[in-house]
Amino acid sequence: MDKERRPDTIARMISPWAWSARQDRRGFLRLAGGAAAAATLFPVEARAATRRHPAFRDYPFQLGVASGDPTPDGFVIWTRLAPDPLNGGGMTTEAIEVRWEVAEDERFERVVRRGSTIASAYWAHAVHVEVGGLKPERWYWYRFDSGGERSPVGRTRTTPPLGSAGSDFRFAFASCQHFETGLYTAYRHMLADNVDLVVHLGDYIYEGPATKDRIRAHRGPEIRTLEQYRNRYALYRSDDALQAMHAAAPWVVTWDDHEVDNNYANDISEEKNVRPVDLLKRRAIAYKAYYEHMPLRRSSLPNGASLQLYRRAPIGDLLELNLLDTRQYRSNQPCNDQSQGCTDLESAPHFLGDAQEAWLKQGLSASKARWNVLAQQMVMMDLDRDPGDGYRANVDSWAGYRTPRGRVLQHIADARIRNVVVLTGDEHVNYAGEVHLDSRKSGSSPVAVEFTSTSITSGGDGQDLSPNDQAVMGANASLKFVNRQRGFMLCDVTKDRWETSVHVLDKVSAADGAISRRARIQVAPGSSRLMIG
Ligand SMILES: [Fe+2]
Repeated sequence: MDKERRPDTIARMISPWAWSARQDRRGFLRLAGGAAAAATLFPVEARAATRRHPAFRDYPFQLGVASGDPTPDGFVIWTRLAPDPLNGGGMTTEAIEVRWEVAEDERFERVVRRGSTIASAYWAHAVHVEVGGLKPERWYWYRFDSGGERSPVGRTRTTPPLGSAGSDFRFAFASCQHFETGLYTAYRHMLADNVDLVVHLGDYIYEGPATKDRIRAHRGPEIRTLEQYRNRYALYRSDDALQAMHAAAPWVVTWDDHEVDNNYANDISEEKNVRPVDLLKRRAIAYKAYYEHMPLRRSSLPNGASLQLYRRAPIGDLLELNLLDTRQYRSNQPCNDQSQGCTDLESAPHFLGDAQEAWLKQGLSASKARWNVLAQQMVMMDLDRDPGDGYRANVDSWAGYRTPRGRVLQHIADARIRNVVVLTGDEHVNYAGEVHLDSRKSGSSPVAVEFTSTSITSGGDGQDLSPNDQAVMGANASLKFVNRQRGFMLCDVTKDRWETSVHVLDKVSAADGAISRRARIQVAPGSSRLMIG
């Protein structure tokens, strides 16, 4: 064989993965204390010869394809070889060659990029190819081949060039897709909206055990091992509607708590008697499985128990998405995460951590975008959750972290950052409202608007309003809209107008859930007030 064609040479030339594995190991060794213990969980695999003509025991592309983190000249394309996806994947430890193509048309008559990469057992035979050199603001189609098998075709899109105002940009955002509590009908309807981008704000999976008498079931106990996390992602990704939406548009993702464990805070578990070192070991496993299944760039490679997920996604000069990570670096929740009766709302020092907070402030100050978006997990409005006397904060949200919340919002006010739009997940409720430094101060002006999208499924069918909601809205003048059904929000953005449409389903418990537009909410540039239609 020609030296230049030897598989390990090819691997070095076109695949980052062998190199990444070494970086990973060095990364582990750099980590101090508890996180370093996680190093032993992932020994670097021996470099095996790459198999170019594998025989799969079944169709290897059952988990479909995905793309993400688009730029004006490219994106990441993803797939995972998994002929037995729900049972560890069904692959041997061999590394496998995977070829890929990107075309300007869906029949692949105008292929503009092609190459090959290596699927390694270390990364669950997932591949993440960063494609560049493409034209801005246009659709592309992509597919993979391996061992004589061909993947489904995916469609994706580059973003408008920087410096251009861009035309209309349409994206959907969503979160919280508990597999057991409903069907992913929302994604079937999202497909019809022909979005340029999907933003997922976390709770992509849930870690809990199989539960009886729900719409559909997890498999096995609460997930803790790498194989269990991988199988859980495979279960979720086996859903046709979710797979179809991944194949239809690029996604930009961030996580919340359930990708690891409910309400964890940095290295602190919500369960008593879990040592930080043990939570970090679990976090390392969970972060690795997350990376393996999401269309993320090399800049988000896991490094032991760390993974840099916060990043910026500019859409021309029209909007700039600041994807935040409010889980990995936060201080513990105040009052032991008990909201009832908690008044200790000023003492928690960190919500984003020093580095991410500085990065966010610097980015907002430097932004030339018309709309500055914080795409993140937790409600930023300081809502009083108790319509009676007194004030009750959700202490897992920004409201439980008033000191770092105040620093970020004061920066927005002092630096006169205009047109800040906060997009939120987590709550399983549609909220729209205005973000104040202190909404209880009379005469206060909002510094941002916030849209909290409900869940895709979590919480089940839901209802328009609960009996308590009118009273909560009465107690919170900044809260303008509430709805408790399932669905997603669709944003149509131009330089002259932001419009969020609240799309809700009448049910997720049966396959024929019907979608409707429950509200249309607009924001004008220069204003942090909502106009509800
Ligand atoms: Fe959730």
